[in-house]
Amino acid sequence: MKALITAGGKGTRLRPITHTQNKHLIPVANKRILDYAIEYVSEAGITEVGIITNKNDDEVKNVYGDGSKFGVKLTYIPQDSPRGLADCVRIAEPFIGKEPFVFYLGDNIIVGGIKKFVREFEENGTNCHLVLSKVPDPERFGVPEIEDDRIVRVEEKPSNPKSDFAVTGIYLYDHNIFEAVNNIEMSDRGELEISDAHQYLIDKGMEISYSEITGWWKDTGKPNDLIEANRLVLDSVERKIEGSVDDESIIQGRVNIAKGAKIENSHIRGPVVIGEGVKVIDSYIGPYTSLNRDTHVKNSEVEFSIVMQEVKIYNQNTRLENSILGKNAAIAKSVRKPGANKFIIGENSRVFLL
Ligand code: G1P
Repeated sequence: MKALITAGGKGTRLRPITHTQNKHLIPVANKRILDYAIEYVSEAGITEVGIITNKNDDEVKNVYGDGSKFGVKLTYIPQDSPRGLADCVRIAEPFIGKEPFVFYLGDNIIVGGIKKFVREFEENGTNCHLVLSKVPDPERFGVPEIEDDRIVRVEEKPSNPKSDFAVTGIYLYDHNIFEAVNNIEMSDRGELEISDAHQYLIDKGMEISYSEITGWWKDTGKPNDLIEANRLVLDSVERKIEGSVDDESIIQGRVNIAKGAKIENSHIRGPVVIGEGVKVIDSYIGPYTSLNRDTHVKNSEVEFSIVMQEVKIYNQNTRLENSILGKNAAIAKSVRKPGANKFIIGENSRVFLL
């Protein structure tokens, strides 16, 4: 069994964060989105992993190298232009060969990993196994039509969805998928759709099995959706305190404080993750917050937010909530006269003041 993971695309819907960073490298609960994918396949016992990247883009390669840190062997497969997910499978055929494989969309997070689905696929012995999740907005996804427990049709982003399931970004295939991806036509949005490949398999009488999951996240649009992913992952964080906490501080619930972090005279209410080198002084950190490496929070309150590396939050009168702060961002109280709000913010940034 091999794995193929997508890590390309432009991430336009997650701007401004993706102006400077591939969306797969954005941290959720202090871990890059793509780390989850690689860890999941590694946990499932798969070691040969292909990664689809944008052409001439070494960002992902520079971070993951040969994959040995994750116990896997990575092969990078550049995609010339964004021709769709079925095209990702098509260009990976030389890497996959005849082996069965898991195709995993690197921008999906699946709480609990994928081991279970790999096993189900192996036990079922089908040609293709899809993982479904109930969603309130199926028209944004590939949608299966199910009759008598069988998938009889899959439609991509249908205006009249035939079920309230989405096909999530984890697919298990045998080699028959290559015939499918080589025989489908471009869709109206100019892509080779993975849903059309699934429909091809159905039309050819191939066996398709499926499982249903909860705890699935995918970036569906707004940056705020990232905060939702953060919440989902933090929901299963465990209490572990390795950093230093002084006697004046209160740590409530499931809080993970990395070594080298320092908490002074502060109140932390989990679920929260705090990375290495973080300093929290005279502050409150509320539920569903992640503070990434070397961030400093002083005399401020932060809740339900993603705070990336090396951020500074100083002397805020109002609690920060529902916020995403990119690497090295700073929010401080203006001390010099004339007293006024002062901003230095990049393209597509958003500020909501009380
Ligand atoms: C893609 C697939 C869609 C699937 C979704 C899951 O959508 O085309 O069938 O439901 O991933 O993440 P896209 O990311 O292109 O909108």
